[in-house]
Amino acid sequence: MAKIQRQVQMLFDLNKCIGCHTCTMACKTMWTDRNEGQMYQYWNNVETMPGLGYPRNWEESGATIGTCQPKNDDEAALTPLPDIEGDYGAPWEYNYGEVLKTEGGNASRSVVVPFPSPDGPDAYASNWDEDVGVGAFPNNYYFYLPRICNHCSDPPCVSACPRRSVYKREEDGVVLIDQDRCRGYRFCVQGCPYKKIYFNPVTGKSEKCIFCYPRIEQGEGNFCVTQCVGRIRWVSYRDNKASNLYKLVNNWRVALRLHPEFGTEPNTFYIPPMSPPGYLANGDLDSKGRIPVSVLARMFGDNCNQTLAQREARIEEIFDILETERAKGMDSELVRILVATTDTEQVQLT
Ligand code: SF4
Ligand code: F3S
Repeated sequence: MAKIQRQVQMLFDLNKCIGCHTCTMACKTMWTDRNEGQMYQYWNNVETMPGLGYPRNWEESGATIGTCQPKNDDEAALTPLPDIEGDYGAPWEYNYGEVLKTEGGNASRSVVVPFPSPDGPDAYASNWDEDVGVGAFPNNYYFYLPRICNHCSDPPCVSACPRRSVYKREEDGVVLIDQDRCRGYRFCVQGCPYKKIYFNPVTGKSEKCIFCYPRIEQGEGNFCVTQCVGRIRWVSYRDNKASNLYKLVNNWRVALRLHPEFGTEPNTFYIPPMSPPGYLANGDLDSKGRIPVSVLARMFGDNCNQTLAQREARIEEIFDILETERAKGMDSELVRILVATTDTEQVQLT
């Protein structure tokens, strides 16, 4: 792989994501709603966690926390190919005719539901388990997880392709698929443990998030960043030490990588979600957040060598930093960055 001159990165504050999917729709309308075969492609998507994810069970790569695996060039690291119907979910329509009188009749129902509705124990589609979460009332919980391709520094999708169709751009580290070279072998899909490559059955080629490179080249932020109503995203280059992204990752150290045990060195970062206290059996408030730190530590960490206990300690540390700085209000640089008022730059691509 050619030496990378610079590397773009993105950061998400999960304390601010409201799960509105504006980012997903921005990406969809910009890149994947014109061509046949792209109907199930969500280069950007937002999942409810804990949950099945999209495609279904993508988190189950078999990687072990505390050991850097799978290795970049280890064929054993190839994971099963997702099935379009079963693991992404076949597209369906909605019963607008029943609700909105669009077919000339009387409205017979007041609720829009999938029609015909997928059913049975294996029913699944994108966001099938949205807002379901886990746990029993009043200690049930969930949070939102927006995802794009991580434009990894050690991307197994690149080494998996025997055609050398997947490559990492030298000038900014964006991972792309050369559509002219691709022959649809799909080893790249198997190689990506985040399952962020989509095979297009109509063109017979694979496609993925392009980090909005035509916009990046103009210094414009990715469309998912600029359209995000929650202002939860920051984008910059890894070496831009003046950027807010750099400050959050390296100075304040409040952001972690998603499943770093996959060993791909992802270039996306997440500020883990805090949560309101849970309730004890006697009805008193617990001193701990409702989302167990152990659940977050299974997902987020600094690097692939960290143990689960080390990851838990880092998350506790981040929550302490956030609480301390929140108490200072707008006197805190960290709070000013995270609040992201309109004079806070979230796109710093110089
Ligand atoms: Fe490749 Fe997947 Fe990493 Fe994107 S997230 S660079 S597709 S391994
Ligand atoms: Fe290669 Fe993936 Fe195409 S393995 S040939 S880029 S489908």
